Amino acid sequence: RQEPTTGIWGYGGTVPGPELRLKQGAEFSAELINRLPQPTTIHWHGIRIVNNMDGVAGLTQPPVAPGDTFTYRFTPPDAGTYWYHPHYRSWEQLARGLYGALVIEEEAPPAVDQDLVMVFDDWRVGKDGQIDEASLESMRDISHAGRLGNILTLNGKFSADFPVLAGQRLRLRLINAATARILRVSFESHVPLVIALDGQPVERPFSPDRNSVLLTPAQRADLILDCTAEPGAATDIAVDVGRERLLAGRLVYDEKRRQRANILTDIPILAPNPMPNDIDLDNAAAIDLVMTGGARRPFDSAEFKGKEYGIRDLVRQHKKAWAFNGIVGLPDKPLAVIDRGRSVVVRMVNRTAWRHAMHFHGHHVREIAHSAREASPHWRDTVFMEPDETVMVAFKAHNPGRWMLHCHMLAHQRGGMATWYEVG
Ligand code: C2O
Ligand code: CU
Repeated sequence: RQEPTTGIWGYGGTVPGPELRLKQGAEFSAELINRLPQPTTIHWHGIRIVNNMDGVAGLTQPPVAPGDTFTYRFTPPDAGTYWYHPHYRSWEQLARGLYGALVIEEEAPPAVDQDLVMVFDDWRVGKDGQIDEASLESMRDISHAGRLGNILTLNGKFSADFPVLAGQRLRLRLINAATARILRVSFESHVPLVIALDGQPVERPFSPDRNSVLLTPAQRADLILDCTAEPGAATDIAVDVGRERLLAGRLVYDEKRRQRANILTDIPILAPNPMPNDIDLDNAAAIDLVMTGGARRPFDSAEFKGKEYGIRDLVRQHKKAWAFNGIVGLPDKPLAVIDRGRSVVVRMVNRTAWRHAMHFHGHHVREIAHSAREASPHWRDTVFMEPDETVMVAFKAHNPGRWMLHCHMLAHQRGGMATWYEVG
């Protein structure tokens, strides 16, 4: 059956947008030319960037109006897998296809036979094959798990085939660009080795639980995957979404050729990025972030734009349902003002009945305590939280400016889960 063509918004007209590959420590610049019918910006997700290039409309720059341009210019300090997307009506603009991979290459990358980016997305399209616009601001989606889709794509395709040779070593850069969907990615009997998370190398590469990689919206994972099947094999790239298993693509082995006779056994280690590791927990600033609201456990009232509102008004008039510390949406005053160089501990308490993906701009953070399991020591820019969990994260506030902190389930951000902190 011939399916209709879906109209998208894209960078350069494609989904994903162009794969940008930059060198660590080298200056990059790009001109945004806005030919969309709405204002937009570009946020360079996960880059420890200079503040005025962070692309957050209304916080670090004015939105770029239709027909206008804006030049982004920055020097990425860290190697790794990042991505870019708008930060203006992001729940709509990402859902329409505006995102792309941003790869910062190491000076001496580990030896692999192929370096492949895999960007996953979850689309909601109607029967006419077009983006389901009516649901873009659905209150039900805002107050539940976000706007979940009905079509999964990998690099913009329903099913993406990656040609490989037996014995090859792959570096896979997984990116979850979905606005709400949590994904678990696996490769049949292949054993992935996680070498980086959210761009930052892990101290010791490890094979994940069940040989599958969990990615909340906005999270990334760099994997080493050795092609251990025989010539002629085809390996499913499977994505578990809730109870369902979807096929996103395949590793298609060449019928005859091999890269090498034996599988490699050495473990490639990435050089660490210049992260500020000297966190001083004893003298850290303590910040509490209590997450409330959403379906099943709505609050009675909350502060919005400096005034107290009842939940009915928030929902009906403003489509808001979530709060941080009793405040809905981006407040005028920051959550905290932190002296530059000071260490910070943020205690995030999820009092909602829903899962969230807490994203810090400007800094990566690491867990120091977790209410449900051992703290995971890896640097992350997006932290997964289940209902009723409390997670403490720490970082050193090295990067001056106004930084957003929000849920990357973008309907939740739309519905109020957004705040900001300032490093002086
Ligand atoms: Cu991926 Cu505030 O963004
Ligand atoms: Cu959320």
